Parts: sequence; structure tokens; C-alpha cells
Amino acid sequence: MIYWSARQSEQRPYCLITPATNEEVSLVLTTLIRADAPFTFRSGGHTAFANGSNTDSGITVDLKYFDTIQLSDDRKSASIGAGLRWGNISEALDPQGLAVIGGRDVNVGVAGLLLGGGFSFFSGRHGWACDNVLGFELVLASGEIIYASADQHVELFMALRGGGGSSFGVVTRFVLATIEQSDLWARSIIYAGETTEALATAATMLITQGMDDDPDAHAYFVRQHKPESGDFANLAGLFHARPVLGNGSTPVTPQVFKSFDAIPCVLYNSTTVADLTTVSRSISIPYGQRQTWSNHAFAAGSVSILVELHALWDDAVLKIALEAKRLGFRYAPLAVYQTISRGQLRASQLRGGNMMGLRLDDGPMFLMHFFASWDNDALDEMILQANQALVQAAEAITRRRGAHRDFVYMNYAGEWQDVLQRYGPASFSHLLQTALRYDPHGDLQRLWRGYFKLY
Ligand SMILES: Cc1cc2nc3c(=O)[nH]c(=O)nc-3n(C[C@H](O)[C@H](O)[C@H](O)COP(=O)(O)OP(=O)(O)OC[C@H]3O[C@@H](n4cnc5c(N)ncnc54)[C@H](O)[C@@H]3O)c2cc1C
Ligand SMILES: *[C@@H]1O[C@H](CO)[C@@H](O)[C@H](O)[C@H]1NC(C)=O
Ligand SMILES: *[C@@H]1O[C@H](CO)[C@@H](O)[C@H](O)[C@H]1NC(C)=O
Ligand SMILES: *[C@@H]1O[C@H](CO)[C@@H](O)[C@H](O)[C@H]1NC(C)=O
Repeated sequence: MIYWSARQSEQRPYCLITPATNEEVSLVLTTLIRADAPFTFRSGGHTAFANGSNTDSGITVDLKYFDTIQLSDDRKSASIGAGLRWGNISEALDPQGLAVIGGRDVNVGVAGLLLGGGFSFFSGRHGWACDNVLGFELVLASGEIIYASADQHVELFMALRGGGGSSFGVVTRFVLATIEQSDLWARSIIYAGETTEALATAATMLITQGMDDDPDAHAYFVRQHKPESGDFANLAGLFHARPVLGNGSTPVTPQVFKSFDAIPCVLYNSTTVADLTTVSRSISIPYGQRQTWSNHAFAAGSVSILVELHALWDDAVLKIALEAKRLGFRYAPLAVYQTISRGQLRASQLRGGNMMGLRLDDGPMFLMHFFASWDNDALDEMILQANQALVQAAEAITRRRGAHRDFVYMNYAGEWQDVLQRYGPASFSHLLQTALRYDPHGDLQRLWRGYFKLY
């Protein structure tokens, strides 16, 4: 079966099950538990590591038939099936002038992203994707089918906002708040590798000031090492939800991003104003490579921390790149900086918050994830070990500089990271109490393969 990461595609489950109704999911889940058979569930299959949503050592249940999208009569919410991809949702909502707070890549599945948090183009104004879930329909380990919302099963409703699915049940349907949305502005700029300090300065100004004044702005930054040329490059992905058109309807650069146009050594510069589907398709990452990722978070404000982290990363990936080249394999690493603005944290709080354990004064923060793609399993051990060592070294730097944040983001976490523990004791205890109540025998903890566990 095709997964985004080849580490998942090569898994061979004993059997693949494709239920199409809640009752079938209930029957599947209770049967697996009675047989003490390990399993995993798959929505969009975008987890990087093996066992994430496909497993050699059990049964894979694919939710692809949960594919209905229904807009409410008042257009204020949309009910979406757990097997859909974000492109399915935007294709349905773009023509209506509506959107939901969801993923930025058309192929990513709705369930994994929503249950783990969800960075969206609209997060500056609306928070994480999970903050905008109004209800979850799910099947419990007991086989019972329930609906969790702000009015019923409230404790579970909160736990599912960022706590992941695998400790609580199988979500078959989400109800999401909609927003009015027309075309977005999107600009990708690639600068030569030596622009790190200039870019780090602009990014720091953006997150500590610009985004406070303009909650419609969204951005991420990527340091790349190109296997073809052996060069480094820096990419800025800049987005704005409310584009302004100037003379001759050419899009105007939003004020908040002006400083990025002043950075020299531009290798590529492209701007589009288009609907969400078009923008999300343009940044989609192709399938087929082996993949890994892991992440850490730190307070934004210091340019020199960013520069130090870049130097650490450059050094580590160059060593691997040389070895990969010697062996004749492809290795393409990325260091991605996502922004967690104060606006995003405030919006989250206003919508009732989530399990990630972040407070307003933790922000603004950068979430840095170390990504790598490669094409041969001979490199697995070297790359996975180096990736883990990189996070540890990076956290040592941010600790020493007094900027460390304990938070680890589930949706870009390495299989070895203690995501739920890193949400802090209050969230962890809420998650644990909820799991003990809704999965009293620990069946999901014991049998659900390969995702972040409570115990
Ligand atoms: C190319 C790419 C782009 C991305 N873009 C973004 C982005 O813009 N913003 C962001 O925040 N993240 C992004 N991510 C990360 C993404 O959120 C995670 O990879 C997420 O887990 C993907 O969800 P999925 O349904 O495709 O994954 P899957 O691998 O199918 O599922 C992930 C986990 O959730 C469990 N699960 C799946 N379905 C259910 C269910 N119905 N009920 C309970 N548990 C379930 C699975 O067992 C698995 O453990 C991106 C990832 C990739 C690869
Ligand atoms: C998947 O999980 C099983 C059971 O925990 C484990 O034995 C196996 O090594 C894992 N596979 C990979 C590739 O990590
Ligand atoms: C969702 O998108 C996928 C991939 O583009 C497509 O194959 C599928 O038919 C779509 N499903 C629906 C219900 O639109
Ligand atoms: C990118 O192109 C736009 C015009 O499309 C221009 O206004 C802007 O200054 C350019 N930015 C950079 C960094 O070259």
C-alpha cells in the first residue's frame, strides 16, 4: 500500500481491513482486542516512521471509506470523514468561499493532523487546527460509538485536542468550525546559503513584532542542503490570508513581509494569489523516499541562537552527505522553522485551549524540525542516529541560552521522542486519567502499534 514515507510502504501487515461504517469499525476494533491482535489505523498515511500507520507486526485498518464532507445549513461548520485528505476539504469549500483550519499540503490526512495539533495557514488568527474542532465521533475500545464535544464527554473532547488518537479510540468523523476565506497570497523565496544571519534577523522581527500586528500572516523557513550541488540554501515560505491587489491587480507585498525583499542573494522568487487548493498543491512534498523527522522548540528573540543552530545542523548533515555520496545514495536533509506566534497561542486559548501545555508567555516560539529524505535503507542507522543526536545537541544549546521550551510537537516528532510527557504534568495527568476512563483495560495502549504512548 502507498504511504508517503517508504519506511511505511515497505511494511507488510498480516491483513488490511477497510471498514466503511461506525458499526464496522466497532466490530473490527472489539474483535482485534478480543484476539489480542496488534493493529494500527491509517488516515492519510503521512507518518514518517514505520509502525506509525502501517505495521509488519499486526493488522492495518484503513479508514479511506470515511470520505463524506457535509457543510451545515448555517455554513458555520463542516462534518468531515476521518479518511479524507486536506485537498478533498479545500476542493469542496473553496467554491463556497469557506475554509477550515487544517493542513497546508493537499495529500496529508485529516485525522493524524487534527489529533496531533495542526499548523495551518490560518493559525495566526485561529490557533491550531485542533482548537477549531467542535466535535469528534469515535469508537471506543469497548466498541461503543460516542460523540465528544464541549457539551458531552468534555474530558475526552479536550484530550483529543492534541493528545493523539491512539490512546482514546478511533475517530471516524470530525466537526470543524468554518471561516470565510477567498484567495491567499503565497511567496516562496530561495536565498543563497550565506544569508542565514540576515534571514534569521528578518524572521525574528516577524515573529516577535510583525505577526502581533498582523494575525493573517503565516511563515516558515527552511534550511536545505541540495544533494545535486552540495550547496546550502535558505527558503522563506511567506503566506497571507488577506491579499491586497494594487494597480493592474498585481498583488502587493504585505507590509509585514517587506523586510524579506531587502535580503540579497536571491536565487528564486515566486508569488501566487490563488485558492487554498492551488497553494496547498504547490507546496506538497512528493512520495516515495525514506523519511525521518524530529523536533524541539525554543523562545524566539535571539538571532544568534538561530545562527548557532544552523551551524550545528550544517556540520551534522555535511558529514552524512559525504558518506551518502561515497555510497552513491540520495540524501536530502531540511531544517524547518515553524512559527508559534503569540497570536496563535492567544487564539488557541480563546477557543478553549488544547493538550499541548503551552501558555501565552511561552511565546513567541520557533519549532524547529529536522527532516531527512533518503533512498536506501543502508543509510537508515546513520541518519536516524544523527537525527536524534542533533535534537539533543540543539536542546543543549537552547538550554544553555535560557531559551529552551519543553514542548515537542506530535505531528513532526521522532518515534523516540516523549511527546505526551513533554506537554507537562497537568496535560499528562489529564490524558492519563481520560485514557484510564475510556480504555480501562489499557487495550489501546497495549495493542495499538507505534505512536506516542502514555504508559
Ligand atoms: C508532506 C507533509 C506535510 C505536512 N504538513 C503539515 C502541516 O501543514 N501542518 C501540520 O501540523 N502538520 C503537517 N504535517 C504532519 C502531519 O500533521 C502528520 O504527519 C499527521 O500525522 C498526518 O496525518 P495522517 O492522517 O496523514 O497520518 P497517519 O499516518 O494516517 O496517522 C497518524 C497517526 O494517527 C493515527 N490515526 C490515524 N487515523 C486515526 C483515527 N481516525 N483515529 C485515531 N487515530 C488515528 C494513526 O494510527 C497514526 O498513529 C505534514 C506531514 C507531511 C508528510
Ligand atoms: C514495529 O513494532 C513492533 C512491535 O512493537 C516492533 O517489534 C518492530 O520492530 C517495529 N518495527 C519497526 C520498523 O520499528
Ligand atoms: C480525495 O482526494 C483523493 C486524492 O486527490 C482522491 O483520490 C479522492 O477521490 C478524493 N475523495 C473525495 C471524496 O473527494
Ligand atoms: C520578489 O518579486 C516581487 C515581485 O513579484 C518583488 O516585489 C519582490 O521585491 C521580490 N523579492 C525578492 C526577495 O526578490
